[in-house]
Amino acid sequence: MKKIKKWLIIIIIVILIVLCFIIFNRKNNFSKAGYSEKEINKIVKMVSKDDYNYFYKKYDDSLIDLISSKDYKKNKFKEYIKYYEKNSNSKISDIVTIVNSGYDLMDYPASSLLASLVKEKYYINSNVARYLDYGNSNKISSKKIVSIVNADADLDFYSKTNEAKLSDNNLILVNKYNHLPDGYEPDDLVTLTSKYNSGRNSSMRKEAAEAFMKMVDGAMLDGITLKNASAYRSYSYQVNLYNSYVLRDGKEKADIYSARAGYSEHQTGLCTDINTIDDSFDGTDAAKWLKDNAYKYGFIIRFPKDKENVTGYKYESWHYRYVGEKAAKIIFDEDLTLEEYYAFYVLNKKTT
Ligand code: DAL
Ligand code: ZN
Repeated sequence: MKKIKKWLIIIIIVILIVLCFIIFNRKNNFSKAGYSEKEINKIVKMVSKDDYNYFYKKYDDSLIDLISSKDYKKNKFKEYIKYYEKNSNSKISDIVTIVNSGYDLMDYPASSLLASLVKEKYYINSNVARYLDYGNSNKISSKKIVSIVNADADLDFYSKTNEAKLSDNNLILVNKYNHLPDGYEPDDLVTLTSKYNSGRNSSMRKEAAEAFMKMVDGAMLDGITLKNASAYRSYSYQVNLYNSYVLRDGKEKADIYSARAGYSEHQTGLCTDINTIDDSFDGTDAAKWLKDNAYKYGFIIRFPKDKENVTGYKYESWHYRYVGEKAAKIIFDEDLTLEEYYAFYVLNKKTT
């Protein structure tokens, strides 16, 4: 028993000696490379053994800055170095942020703009080149850059158009870049009765109509009267409407408040203009009630204030769009437009 103990102590001492030797030797190498005692202690703590070579090879202030950086992660060392070698004049903290984002951005020069973009909640990696383009020519926040580009609003109106996907159902995106298929008419339109309607375009798709009626009944309990003034509009109706506006105001102005035929979501049967279709609606009790409550019934304000450069349309306090309760809640809580929601949660397939 005593003998075993003795051997055990000897083994432990030998191990300790070997360890001391290894550490001392390593420290010695580092000091030969020019690092101070304090820096060496940091290197030993912050860099894995595999990565020590870098420090032996060259003395470099930036390497110390790197491992001292607030968000530095030991296991990303090699990636930092690879990126740093391409961007040796960039800020170390930007390099750390960009590499930490987990996106492969090796081909994009490190910059404060890129570092702030990758931190945005709604950043989509496939849009990065457009974010940078837009951000370099418009001095606005990264959040706004991401919103605008995700919505395609960095592109000229009607310059690049796709056919909207009917399979997106309640989430279908129809705007200046996405049009309905030729001749589209929903096959489940229902007509609202006069309790719910005051206008000529009185039909909506069934699910949207049912949600709308529930919303009107809910508002009624709070003493608020809501009625649809314009819901589903056919392609040919929109042709006449848009053309009449162009005649009155010219194309450029009309495009700010009226959609070209095929590009109006009124043709989806999923939206409704409520009570009064003009700015006098804003500030009414009904408008306030809708702002606070519509999402509970699956509706969103489709062209919000302060988002004109995202939707491409002037603020419309009266225009509500049915998207279903789940999406409406996210859009409401996160202060998104349908464009932003669609890019991130539908196309990019991010889940909450
Ligand atoms: N006023 C909306 C944008 C439309 O014309 O569909
Ligand atoms: Zn409308």
